Amino acid sequence: MEMLNVTNITASYGRKQVLFDTSLSIKDGERVLLIGPNGAGKSTLLKVIAGLVTHTGGNIEYSGHDISSWTTHRRITSGIGYLLQTENIVPGLTVNENLRLGGYSLKPEILRTRLDEVLEIFGFLKEKLQNRAGLLSGGERQALAISMVLMKRPSLLLLDEPSAGLSPKAASDVLEHVKIAQDVMGIRAVCMVEHNLKLSLQWASKVIVLVGGRTVHVSDTPEKYLVHPQELEKFFFGELR
Ligand SMILES: Nc1ncnc2c1ncn2[C@@H]1O[C@H](COP(=O)(O)OP(=O)(O)O)[C@@H](O)[C@H]1O
Ligand SMILES: [Mg+2]
Repeated sequence: MEMLNVTNITASYGRKQVLFDTSLSIKDGERVLLIGPNGAGKSTLLKVIAGLVTHTGGNIEYSGHDISSWTTHRRITSGIGYLLQTENIVPGLTVNENLRLGGYSLKPEILRTRLDEVLEIFGFLKEKLQNRAGLLSGGERQALAISMVLMKRPSLLLLDEPSAGLSPKAASDVLEHVKIAQDVMGIRAVCMVEHNLKLSLQWASKVIVLVGGRTVHVSDTPEKYLVHPQELEKFFFGELR
């Protein structure tokens, strides 16, 4: 079943149009990898789904509902989890406070259970609960940021470059934990923006290439690009034509 159906989305920042008839559909069980050059509109597309950027045309259907007019809050409480590309933790607060912020609207007893669940996945955060988040390593920060999103146990998880700027080891750790979280928390579908193709192609069940605000390629067999990821990057240069 289609969980998310984004069709013919147009979106702009002021007069600058960024998305042009962009479509994306995510089925239950899918792990979608969204790639494309810088400025392609990947983050904007995720923001449109999360309700942080208002689209000027097209439709967004989630679990059979037209959610176009829904607030971000309603989308999040209805199961859409969204990890921002940057500034996704509060550095001045402790790890514990950040996690509680992630679960801000949960009832106290659910918050406690969820906290345990998340710390079961990211065990290394347990001993850092009282540390200031700003003092964590890059990998730990991303783990915390993802944990904050997981506090709401989303059905559909949108991740914007979770491993950006991390060492290869930390990047592969982050992806490994995303997989574990998916299984343990029963997350039904994930859409991830990633530049590390070698890593993320092993994870994905579908790959979508966005160039200049348009979907230029979709493949349900991402593993075929594992040996030659540059075959996918070829699509990036379509914008020069
Ligand atoms: N808040 C903003 N205001 C104005 N322009 C923006 C804003 N955010 C992004 N843009 C522009 O929109 C385009 C797409 O950006 P973005 O969605 O961040 O791309 P990507 O995530 O694929 O790198 C870029 O040209 C970027 O400069
Ligand atoms: Mg981006």
